[in-house]
Amino acid sequence: MKEIIVNEDILITSKTDLKGNIIYANDDFLKYAGYSMKEVLYKPHNIVRHPDMPKAVFKLLWEYIKNKNEIFAFVKNKTKSGDYYWVFANITVSLNEKGEAINCYSVRRAPNKDALKTISELYKNLVECEQKDGLQASYKKLQDFIASYNISYNQLIFELQGLK
Ligand SMILES: Cc1cc2nc3c(=O)[nH]c(=O)nc-3n(C[C@H](O)[C@H](O)[C@H](O)COP(=O)(O)O)c2cc1C
Repeated sequence: MKEIIVNEDILITSKTDLKGNIIYANDDFLKYAGYSMKEVLYKPHNIVRHPDMPKAVFKLLWEYIKNKNEIFAFVKNKTKSGDYYWVFANITVSLNEKGEAINCYSVRRAPNKDALKTISELYKNLVECEQKDGLQASYKKLQDFIASYNISYNQLIFELQGLK
């Protein structure tokens, strides 16, 4: 299966309800993932989930979302035909005037190629750990990885992308 490179000037966006069902996707989302709007609308966002993505990363993602916090992540996504594309993603929770979460929004852009070397190795270790020792062990490994840099998870991902 081949890698599809996301162009530098592209923003891939989607909106979900609070359970992660897609309620909006832009044209570039559909173009890169290879689906029509009809095929993705109201479907769970894991429609583009790639098996190389560790469960631990999504566990962290949903913990941030539940706390109404934004999160950054490098994500390997799967296209309809089985190819893959890497993105640097930002996910935010939209709030109503009462401060209640109403939906989630994600913007993805081309990832820093050097970051992907570090991230691919980390994700490979986490997936292996999940297969051997389960999600809790992998989640601990992810936490230990973050702690070894002495900065927050978002800060680390931001810096790996080359942003400060
Ligand atoms: C706004 C938003 C955007 C998301 N974008 C992606 C994405 O691009 N790729 C992906 O695999 N999961 C994405 N997810 C996470 C999925 O909802 C899901 O948790 C993940 O694919 C793992 O699937 P699973 O929970 O069935 O194991 C997103 C979630 C939200 C709320």
